[in-house]
Amino acid sequence: METFKMIQSRKAVRQYSGQITKEQLQKIITAANAAAVGMGEFENYRLTVIQKAEILNKLSGIYDAPTVIVVSAKNPSAMEDISAGTIVHNMELTAEDQGLGANYNMSSLGSIPDDVIPDGFKPIFALTLGQTTEKFVPREISLDKIKTNIVK
Ligand SMILES: Cc1cc2nc3c(=O)[nH]c(=O)nc-3n(C[C@H](O)[C@H](O)[C@H](O)COP(=O)(O)O)c2cc1C
Repeated sequence: METFKMIQSRKAVRQYSGQITKEQLQKIITAANAAAVGMGEFENYRLTVIQKAEILNKLSGIYDAPTVIVVSAKNPSAMEDISAGTIVHNMELTAEDQGLGANYNMSSLGSIPDDVIPDGFKPIFALTLGQTTEKFVPREISLDKIKTNIVK
């Protein structure tokens, strides 16, 4: 989909009807790697793709998603938090551009078992993913959802 149309069409999807394919996952991971991160320090981040039922069952607030991708960072600070946002946002747009349902997720972070995340890294943001029956059509976006002041 054309970029601006996709931005207008994206939405939080919390109902999933099946697992994503390997090809869809590969494209989403490519999008993560195309994200901007502070100082270009890609080595300070890790992606963990969770598709194992035994682990997913332990996660809170994931709406029975069949896939959860966790972004973790070394020594999280504001720059890492923001960079995790750009990574997850790239993945969310790419997932929904492929017709998948996706949603940003922070509520699962405290429930992720330590041994799932690489040593020395802390989870900071996550994405829930799955097939969906929802359609993506441009939404009416009001200009003042976020109040703006223009200084000139
Ligand atoms: C930083 C951040 C954290 C979020 N955490 C959650 C979450 O834990 N659970 C959830 O259901 N939605 C979560 N969301 C999704 C927002 O609730 C959602 O994007 C917002 O309500 C706007 O709706 P829209 O995405 O459909 O435009 C999060 C979004 C962001 C940006």
